[in-house]
Amino acid sequence: MSILDDDKRSEREEVIGLLTKAYWMEIETVMSYISNSINPDGVRAQEIIESLQEDIQEELGHAQQFGSRIKELYGVVPGSLDFSAEQSYLQPPDEQTDIVHVIKGVIEAETGAIDHYNKIIEFTDGVDPVTQDMVITILHDEEGHRRLFEGFLREYEKEGLA
Ligand SMILES: [Fe+2]
Repeated sequence: MSILDDDKRSEREEVIGLLTKAYWMEIETVMSYISNSINPDGVRAQEIIESLQEDIQEELGHAQQFGSRIKELYGVVPGSLDFSAEQSYLQPPDEQTDIVHVIKGVIEAETGAIDHYNKIIEFTDGVDPVTQDMVITILHDEEGHRRLFEGFLREYEKEGLA
């Protein structure tokens, strides 16, 4: 009994739907992190810039993993015309020295990913262990990244800047 069996088609399609949403979330995160790793000005921005630069590669790797799993489940990775943006909170701030805006946006993006990936882990439990295992590892990355940015925010708050 496997998720790849003929009679598991409806479960498989549901998993593909969840993975497709995850794929687009990663792609949009890559776009947002590219802009937010270039736009910020000021001495204080450097740590955020470097952290986001590293994370672009990680999120891109996640998108590739979600895409590969969609294919393994006999799905098709969507084309760019299917994309619709959702990350209003990660648009460039009015002032490019507004680092707190970027930090809060990253925390919100990571929280969205964490919520969705927990949903996938729950749905695939006992249904698709391979997807579940992959998403647990990706979830770990997102939790680590959110924790890092929560630390940045705490520092800004301590200094009365947030
Ligand atoms: Fe990610």
